[in-house]
Amino acid sequence: MIKKILVTGGAGFIGSHVLEALEKAGSFDITVLDNLSTGSRRYIPSNVPLIEMDVRDSELVPFMKKERFDAVIHLAAQTLVPFSMNHAREDADVNIMGLLNLLEGCRCSGVAQILFSSSAAVYGDNRNLPIQENEPLCPTSFYGLSKATAESYIRLSCRLYGMNGVILRFANVYGERQGENGEGGVISIFARRIISGKGLVVFGNGKQTRDFVYVGDIADVMVRALGYEGIATWNVSTNTKVSLNHLIDVFGKVTGQVPSVSYENPREGDIYDSMLSNAAIRRDLGKSDFTSLESGLLKTMRDLQNR
Ligand SMILES: NC(=O)c1ccc[n+]([C@@H]2O[C@H](COP(=O)([O-])OP(=O)(O)OC[C@H]3O[C@@H](n4cnc5c(N)ncnc54)[C@H](O)[C@@H]3O)[C@@H](O)[C@H]2O)c1
Repeated sequence: MIKKILVTGGAGFIGSHVLEALEKAGSFDITVLDNLSTGSRRYIPSNVPLIEMDVRDSELVPFMKKERFDAVIHLAAQTLVPFSMNHAREDADVNIMGLLNLLEGCRCSGVAQILFSSSAAVYGDNRNLPIQENEPLCPTSFYGLSKATAESYIRLSCRLYGMNGVILRFANVYGERQGENGEGGVISIFARRIISGKGLVVFGNGKQTRDFVYVGDIADVMVRALGYEGIATWNVSTNTKVSLNHLIDVFGKVTGQVPSVSYENPREGDIYDSMLSNAAIRRDLGKSDFTSLESGLLKTMRDLQNR
């Protein structure tokens, strides 16, 4: 039975929602490990201990041996796609070497399950929409490559150490407490600009699409996947293509004001259409209720206004 859980990156955007969902779901004994490079101590409930440490730290393995966690939820990462393009080594250092350090900790301390935050970036510019989990991996960024490589290390480690493993490939996540720079940043950027009365900038004609999934649904899937026996890889997505133009319309509905929009040249390397199948999490985890874009944007806007 899973009782004692280590959440790496728990002080971050998605991590803070995972902590909330875990607290709601049961009486887990949770510890957060985070170097606070992008996360914040404020996002961690006061009853949850924070170990301020880098996942690459040599102290990590002795710490895990001492604590003997049942499960590890690994969210800590270098998350910036553009940064990875000019800093492939730094990206790999955190996303691969940091993971290997953590896996060594899992091996030495008998962790029963690891849950990993992977990304739609592992598929690259695949046009076979909605993308299913068995599609070939063909990342177009070093970030996507480090996530795909991390997945392979996890699967092999699970097989070798007899550990259960869940790999979750998130689509574009959005919601309260999101920073502006992360992977799914467009909603966060638009929301901040609307609140400060600025116009929106769209690169391209606005017909490009994304699969925007609300962060509360990500956290819900994490909790559902906790204790899963075996090795699984699942997309976490809405299975819906939303164009940026439609997104702007929904922002208008939610805020009651039509934002002004300027269109600029498309950015090189941007994927045009994106949508991940969620049939597998519906089938295997019984996840059937997804937060609507309207309701998710409302929560996001309220959170920003209250800050
Ligand atoms: N936000 C998205 O749309 C999205 C999409 C796909 C995958 N993901 C993945 O989900 C995970 C969480 O992302 P997020 O959006 O919450 O990002 P975030 O930046 O808000 O959270 C990352 C957390 O990890 C911590 N961290 C970073 N490097 C660390 C290190 N070397 N050692 C210890 N802690 C470290 C940060 O301080 C932060 O608290 C990441 O693995 C990211 O790649 C996010």
